[in-house]
Amino acid sequence: MIHRPMICKITSIVDEAVDRKTITVRAPIIARRAVPGQFIMVWAIGVDEIPMGISHIGDEEISFTVHRVGEATAALHRRKIGDVIGVRGPYGNGFKITGRRVLVVGGGTGMAPLMPLIEKLIEKRIDVTVINGAKTVGELIFLKKLQQWHEDGEIELIVTTDDGTFGIKAMASDVVEQVIKERGIEEVYVCGPEKMMVKILEITERLGVHLQASLERYMKCAIGICGSCTLDPLGLRVCKDGPVFPSEVLRRISELGRYRRNSSGIKEPV
Ligand SMILES: Cc1cc2nc3c(=O)[nH]c(=O)nc-3n(C[C@H](O)[C@H](O)[C@H](O)COP(=O)(O)OP(=O)(O)OC[C@H]3O[C@@H](n4cnc5c(N)ncnc54)[C@H](O)[C@@H]3O)c2cc1C
Ligand code: FES
Repeated sequence: MIHRPMICKITSIVDEAVDRKTITVRAPIIARRAVPGQFIMVWAIGVDEIPMGISHIGDEEISFTVHRVGEATAALHRRKIGDVIGVRGPYGNGFKITGRRVLVVGGGTGMAPLMPLIEKLIEKRIDVTVINGAKTVGELIFLKKLQQWHEDGEIELIVTTDDGTFGIKAMASDVVEQVIKERGIEEVYVCGPEKMMVKILEITERLGVHLQASLERYMKCAIGICGSCTLDPLGLRVCKDGPVFPSEVLRRISELGRYRRNSSGIKEPV
């Protein structure tokens, strides 16, 4: 049943940042099953069906945060409260919660699937440091929510922007090594641009700290059948074996940070 889109009503839309909106739908069956790090397939009816990380898991509702980049994401941005969309899932494995002092690094829209993870870490009273990075202040998502958690003493928060318009003028990956060393970090979680994730993998490998990274590849079926999202040379499927992969797998993915396959299966540089 979860492999067929369920028609869900939009209950809320929040302008998160420039070209980025958080859309909430009523989807009790998905909400009950979902765990942090999983994704859904979202069908803007009449347009394409695309993968989206889950950015909030409620009792009866789930949210996802859409960066407008092309046809399907633009169609989702045009939807209004009360409109319906198709949603199927939840899919993928999700993050494993481990360690007593952890670091969560979100680059751009990559912060979205990390939000339910942070909520879970707070609930479990784990010591959490969050690095929220973006190119510029207008592209930072969930800043208010993260600042609120910081003020409430739930998390340590570091914000970076490439152009220095907010927080530290740096890329998120530039501050990771110092944070790991100063705070005795035992586990790192990351989602964001692949080049950033590769840099963080290099750092965690050198420091001997375990990493979990959420990857993106072109998805069609999302249930492990079509082979669209396989990774070289292991043949692992991002939709079924991922999207979250641990250090011991990441270090063996030869295409990581180099190329990915497009909708026709042709390799393109990341
Ligand atoms: C597991 C996963 C989770 C994701 N989570 C989010 C999220 O939380 N928020 C968000 O804004 N984006 C997320 N994405 C990326 C999002 O799916 C694409 O930006 C979206 O599909 C673009 O569609 P489009 O028609 O607007 O753009 P298009 O112009 O069709 O495509 C723009 C680019 O988006 C990518 N893309 C397009 N279709 C797909 C597809 N079916 N599968 C994977 N990539 C595709 C390709 O790299 C393409 O070059 C996620 C992708 C994956 C695989
Ligand atoms: S999208 Fe079909 S196998 Fe992953």
